[in-house]
Amino acid sequence: MSEERVNFGSKIGVILATAGSAVGLGNIWRFPYMAGENGGAAFIFIYILCVIVLGIPCMISEFIIGRHGASNTARAYTRLAKGSTWKWVGYLEVLTGFLITGYYAVVSGWCLNYIYASIMGELKGDPAFITDYFTAFSNDPIRPVFWTIAIFAATHFIIVHGVRNGIEKASKLMMPTLFILLLVIVIAACLLPGASKGIDFLLKPDFSKVTGDVFLGALGQCFYSMSIGMGCLCTYASYFSRHTNIKTSAIQIGLIDLLVAILAGLMIFPAAFSVGISPDSGPSLIFITLPNVFNQAFSSVPLIGWIVSLMFYALLSLAALTSLISLHEVNTAFFYEEMHISRKAGAWIVTLSCGLIGAVCSVSIGQKAHMSVFGMDLFDLFDFVTGQLMLPLCGILMCLFVGWFVPKQIVKDELSNWGTLRYSFYTLFIFAMRFVCPLCILAIVLHQFHVI
Ligand code: TRP
Repeated sequence: MSEERVNFGSKIGVILATAGSAVGLGNIWRFPYMAGENGGAAFIFIYILCVIVLGIPCMISEFIIGRHGASNTARAYTRLAKGSTWKWVGYLEVLTGFLITGYYAVVSGWCLNYIYASIMGELKGDPAFITDYFTAFSNDPIRPVFWTIAIFAATHFIIVHGVRNGIEKASKLMMPTLFILLLVIVIAACLLPGASKGIDFLLKPDFSKVTGDVFLGALGQCFYSMSIGMGCLCTYASYFSRHTNIKTSAIQIGLIDLLVAILAGLMIFPAAFSVGISPDSGPSLIFITLPNVFNQAFSSVPLIGWIVSLMFYALLSLAALTSLISLHEVNTAFFYEEMHISRKAGAWIVTLSCGLIGAVCSVSIGQKAHMSVFGMDLFDLFDFVTGQLMLPLCGILMCLFVGWFVPKQIVKDELSNWGTLRYSFYTLFIFAMRFVCPLCILAIVLHQFHVI
């Protein structure tokens, strides 16, 4: 392990930065809806099982590769692979990160626009107006591109300040802000008349809804939400010090990610149920349903509605920004270390190239008919290829690599911080990496293609 590599300066910095990568749009726009639709507390219970049995072990594996490799993801794999073809997994992860960054930035940019729109009071109107607003905005050739550039500028600014002064400092500021905003909105939502119906919807266990599909859904959500399979965790782990306890850090980060997801549900459902609007999933939940909910729930005191809406989009933008930073860092670290250029130059390459991909994705939404491949616009195509093909593939290969190839002594050393910590569950961990995790991820992929 090279000693001169920069490290995160503190334990809390490690936790907040890495939790920043995990806590993102996945927690807020996907988890609550999935939980509500798939059996409430029963789903949450299954999800927690997935986090414990699969999510945390996979996160630990990425940490092992990252800290041992002490460099960008591609080089970390190359070092551990010792000349074998396994090194290409690292390159595949970096490539996946490269492709995801642009399109994740587009949605993050939308969140920024909605902060602006909330401030300017542009989101006031009946449901039809809100739907039209979103359609017009996302199809506009200029405005979303402007906001994509804006979020890239913020990300770039933080990245060029380095690991400690940029990523760590920003996470220490942004993550606590995110929690405070979240708690305030949860309280405001739960105080609304009729909110308890929403809480019931989220928390009442309904085991009759639990099917094989629900299990696979929970699994997929767990991998996405914990940022597994794309070098983010691996890159951040390369900045861990020799004293970072990989196992407890993974547990703490997993818990924070889970807590934010559940709180997001306690924010969305009480508000939606109090005004009788049924919650939706994905972009329409965040950009269409919720503006309506805020308008109606706080119609008697519009000032509060204005504040809650502003706080919500600020929360969303923070969650997206901290994830985007980790995606950007995967590529920045790759370029500056592999091309032997400065960190700044590496960051510029990523910002400009991913910015371009983002801009093209964004424009493609409004140009569906002209820019479609296999019937999808570029935005959906990127989502499909990266999220449903490349991410699971990287995940499976990563597990097999740690389970079968990486020398056991390295795994033991990393888990025990070179003999200073006890490592329990070692055999179970290796068993999970060899069999359980790869098979589960394979099942998700086959399910997506309706094979099972
Ligand atoms: N975990 C993030 C979210 O919940 C998204 C994300 C960031 C991600 N980096 C990732 C997903 C790496 C998979 C792999 O939105």
